[in-house]
Amino acid sequence: MQEKKLERNDPCWCGSGKKYKQCHMRLDERIHTFAMAGHLVPEHRLIKTAGQIDGIRESGKINAAVLDHVAAHIRAGMSTAEIDRLVEEKTRACHAVPAPLGYEGFPKSVCTSVNDQVCHGIPSEKDILREGDIVNVDVSTIYRGYFSDSSRMFIIGKTTPERERLVRVAKECMEAGIAQVRPWQFLGDMADAVNCHAKKNGCSVVAEVGGHGVGLEFHEDPFVSYVAPKGTEMLLVPGMVFTIEPMVNAGSPEICIDEENGWTIYTQDGKPSAQWEVTVAVTEDGCEILAW
Ligand code: MF3
Ligand code: CO
Repeated sequence: MQEKKLERNDPCWCGSGKKYKQCHMRLDERIHTFAMAGHLVPEHRLIKTAGQIDGIRESGKINAAVLDHVAAHIRAGMSTAEIDRLVEEKTRACHAVPAPLGYEGFPKSVCTSVNDQVCHGIPSEKDILREGDIVNVDVSTIYRGYFSDSSRMFIIGKTTPERERLVRVAKECMEAGIAQVRPWQFLGDMADAVNCHAKKNGCSVVAEVGGHGVGLEFHEDPFVSYVAPKGTEMLLVPGMVFTIEPMVNAGSPEICIDEENGWTIYTQDGKPSAQWEVTVAVTEDGCEILAW
């Protein structure tokens, strides 16, 4: 989309009320040099203001509190529908709304993905957590119009060394990605760090499902790959907010979708998959985790 070229003395596009030349003009000029060199660069609507980031941070605190609540109660014998109730109740108690509920027809307030489920598992009374299961609980919150998104893995009781290792490696992959987030690098630099760490540990990263911009909507541009090479994908600019949520498989990266519910993604080889997720904002010199 073409954005209107502002003159130096026009009011800045960000709504600060300041003159463009005293606000985002220099940032735009720097972004422009990358665009001229052929890089994918963010449009203005992907660059959040400090006030918007404050709003996403508040939403993210609730998201983390909901996951803390799940952590305190999750146990063997519980159904994934009970996790859904925990999420719904805690979110409402914080005067917020669960973003998944009704999103593109999704029927529940949270995604619960067990063992070989890669993501988008639908909570059910019939799915009972058993000793040794590994489960991803993916929570997303809307608070005062601001969206946040994060997920954690939970190990039910004691599990196998293979599953335990996968959960650890997936967390390290997310952390390796976070360490690469700073302005004027590329999303591909982050992705490459994730993918290399997974490969080094004999694991694989799902390519077809990725992360996303987040904040003013649930899913914004850009699509965030965790398999892209260094130096590719979108330029990182202060004010961008997106998720780091690589799906890491113990076996092959191939996936398939549940044809019956149209949502749940499984590993094709039936081996386990793990995922951790944070929402991050790009700052002047690195990044800030807004939801964990
Ligand atoms: N947090 C999940 C994601 O970003 C939510 C998927 S949409 C839902 O991939 F409807 F399933 F929640
Ligand atoms: Co997400």
